[in-house]
Amino acid sequence: MSDQKKTFRSAAWFGRDDKDSFVHRGWMRNQGFPDHVFDGRPVIGICNTWSELTPCNAHLRSIAEHVKRGVWEAGGLPLEFPVMSLGESTLRPTAMLFRNLVSMDVEESIRGNPIDGVVLLCGCDKTTVSLVMGAASCDVPAIVVSGGPMLNGKYRGKEIGSGTDLWRFSEELKAGAMSQLEFREAETCMSRSAGSCMTMGTASTMANMVEALGIALPQNAAIPAVDSRRGVLAHMSGRRIVEMVHEGLTLSKILTRSAFENAIRVNGAIGGSTNAVIHLLAIAGRIGVPLALDDWDRIGRNVPTLVDLMPSGRFLMEDYYYAGGLPAVIRALDAHELLHSNALTVTGKAIGENCKDAPNWDEEVIRRFDNPLVKQGGMAILRGNLAPDGAVLKPSAASPDLMCHRGRAVVFNTIEQYKERIMDPDLDVDEDSILVLQNCGPKGYPGMAEVGNMGLPPKVLARGIKDMVRISDARMSGTAYGTVVLHVCPEAAAGGPLALVQEGDFIELDVEARSLHLDVSDAELARRRASWKQAPLPLTGGYQQMYVQHVMQASEGADLDFLVGCRGTTVKREAH
Ligand code: FES
Repeated sequence: MSDQKKTFRSAAWFGRDDKDSFVHRGWMRNQGFPDHVFDGRPVIGICNTWSELTPCNAHLRSIAEHVKRGVWEAGGLPLEFPVMSLGESTLRPTAMLFRNLVSMDVEESIRGNPIDGVVLLCGCDKTTVSLVMGAASCDVPAIVVSGGPMLNGKYRGKEIGSGTDLWRFSEELKAGAMSQLEFREAETCMSRSAGSCMTMGTASTMANMVEALGIALPQNAAIPAVDSRRGVLAHMSGRRIVEMVHEGLTLSKILTRSAFENAIRVNGAIGGSTNAVIHLLAIAGRIGVPLALDDWDRIGRNVPTLVDLMPSGRFLMEDYYYAGGLPAVIRALDAHELLHSNALTVTGKAIGENCKDAPNWDEEVIRRFDNPLVKQGGMAILRGNLAPDGAVLKPSAASPDLMCHRGRAVVFNTIEQYKERIMDPDLDVDEDSILVLQNCGPKGYPGMAEVGNMGLPPKVLARGIKDMVRISDARMSGTAYGTVVLHVCPEAAAGGPLALVQEGDFIELDVEARSLHLDVSDAELARRRASWKQAPLPLTGGYQQMYVQHVMQASEGADLDFLVGCRGTTVKREAH
């Protein structure tokens, strides 16, 4: 580094000769730091979501050590710090309830400490999003290092994917096609190594998204967690963040409108999770880039799904890495003029430049444009009298024969009511019915749980039916599939028309026309609205109460209204 004399933010803590610097430096020395590390070098925070309660991130302490090697090597001072971790498979009622809370933890930890640049260590779904949201609100130099996916699951000689095969096994168990013993055996075969879900679920999707946005090094998304090259990537990220601090390469220089448009197209090409819609809207809100729900449809509509991964396709993340990973996909998009190739990335180079020679070693896994998995990937944003502010459906995970469907509503007012009624052999339902779930949105659940892909009634499953149209204000796991309309806005608990649907109403879904229509007259809907009473919101005190009072709708990213925007790194008061 040539410009060691540059003064960084951390100098306000470590670079003075007064009582305050005595405190700031002196107490740090108890960790064995010698005097020369306080010579004005960049201080790099390593924001770690390691936790044994977040199995997908349980290996991040060792990844942090690789990052530190790179930081030291490049002349920085690495300081690792923990933030709240969100384990998707463990945390109740839903990790999404705490995404915004963690983003506050990250934002205030960065701003309040002598941090010049930050490495964000994440993996499980929300950990990636909350860390990027928090760092974006500070606008510091930042680089994401994902923990990487688990090795492929293996069950009785076949590959099985996180989540995706669980949904299948669970339906087979319900239909009597799988025994309890086999179900338990499959459980032991799914998660074979450190890392996150190895399907194209939300964790993999978001790892691809940060790479597509340009805030992670190429190949961040796909290198398996236990592949030694994951350590190399972490090491190189540690080196690079120090250089980024010297270059003043902050997040807002990378997270531009072009970067978000690239990410939307990449999401279509990889068959990414519907959750990415909400998460990218929230990140854009933090960094101040205008992004709307309809951009997802408009920008992503003509992008074919090239990556043949579960839940939309056949393969898993390990295969994706060996085939070439995201750089191969980005190169293909660029070749078809579906990329802003000049968008800047953390490498200091444009994304097109990063990927211009990326090979595709397996055209079964990363398919060619003339042989896509789905011709029109991306997200369908539906509107109509049932979703005036929009709803989301992922065509690549849906059944083609249900994309235009009219059916009679079977309505569940809460998820508890769904669980009670769905097993009932007398439930008046058949494969043409439409399952409707209310009160599972951001305010109603609260936290907008991943319950939108409601399991089918056993009596329908028993007839060999695998999919039905399902509609809710909830989300669904990125590992799930089906003709599932999600994120209906406004949600039922906020008085959206979804709250007015009654058992037996007819609903029309037309994905091609992007419409979702409740076939009930305006006069009747007005009558129902007049007698609709809002269920008391779950105001139980503490963080959850603040969340319910301030959370925005899914179409706006479900952030807390007072957290939107970038507040920078200035600390108003410096003294203790
Ligand atoms: Fe953590 Fe899927 S449960 S990534």
